[in-house]
Amino acid sequence: MAGRLLSLEQDFLSGPTMANVLGAIQQRYACRRFVAGRPPSDDELVSLIEAARLAPSAFGLEPWRFLTVIDAAQRAELARACFGQPAAATAPAFITIVALVDALEPDSDYVRARFEAEARGGPVAPLHEMYRAFYRAEAIAAWAQGQCHFAAAHLLLQAAHLGLGSCPIGGFDAAALARALRLPPGETPALVIALGHCADTMPKRVRKPRAD
Ligand SMILES: Cc1cc2nc3c(=O)[nH]c(=O)nc-3n(C[C@H](O)[C@H](O)[C@H](O)COP(=O)(O)O)c2cc1C
Repeated sequence: MAGRLLSLEQDFLSGPTMANVLGAIQQRYACRRFVAGRPPSDDELVSLIEAARLAPSAFGLEPWRFLTVIDAAQRAELARACFGQPAAATAPAFITIVALVDALEPDSDYVRARFEAEARGGPVAPLHEMYRAFYRAEAIAAWAQGQCHFAAAHLLLQAAHLGLGSCPIGGFDAAALARALRLPPGETPALVIALGHCADTMPKRVRKPRAD
């Protein structure tokens, strides 16, 4: 046990390695300028979405969808919806996490299907009743977006693990972005993630000290 703790401590102290989750956390930074013409490979995109898909969500509702954009014309539309920010203007690929807001209505087919799955063959009604009360009390659109941010964190860390650059982008015109992504009513963009190979080196990390 003491040996195990010692080796964990060495992991923490030895600085970033890509062999552990903390290594990916330490390597990740918001990349604001990407190498042109080098999007993530198809396999990398699949693994990013797989990491996001496995994120936890309250009630197991997974209120998200992941939309990949590589096409140049659609990327330009996305970049405009993100106010032309440098990360968006230079990224060769995007994955946008979309919040499924209307699907969260307690009597929707979506909620029924998710609860059937989440109950794993057990009774669905108690979970459903608890959720009805929760839904009445909650600002559901904001809540759904919060859930999507868990998926985003998974995706960002997998990108770091793969050596890809990434930038989460919350600064966008939601209506313009919904149009660019051809979203149906009842779905809203939660976060755009710019992806590719970073053209900049990692800036100095800025964080509050642990004691704060
Ligand atoms: C929800 C969210 C929204 C963000 N929106 C933007 C954005 O619109 N544009 C941008 O350049 N960076 C954006 N960022 C990146 C942050 O500015 C960045 O994570 C923060 O400054 C810390 O730097 P680091 O990620 O390099 O450690 C966002 C980050 C998060 C978590």
